[in-house]
Amino acid sequence: MFKITFQSQTTHSAELEQEGTLLSAASKAESPLNHRCGGHARCGTCKVEVLEGAEHLSEKGTAEARVLEVLKAKPSERLACQAWAKGDVVCRY
Ligand code: FES
Repeated sequence: MFKITFQSQTTHSAELEQEGTLLSAASKAESPLNHRCGGHARCGTCKVEVLEGAEHLSEKGTAEARVLEVLKAKPSERLACQAWAKGDVVCRY
């Protein structure tokens, strides 16, 4: 079991029993993270900055990397709908 924490105006967290996307963890944590395209790596509204635990996330795929490039994202930023977590992660948006 591991913990995904989201910092925004308030802090929310969810405990996951198995690997899952940051977006699914945000939903479980009832953290109001935007996701306009429904998790298809098209809109970029689910972008988060990873503060801790980046090593517990999946590698960026082609679609995610393309969207992050268009958004001029920092290296520490990920799309929550594309980043799969398998350990503790702290992020903010
Ligand atoms: S929900 Fe649209 S890119 Fe993640």
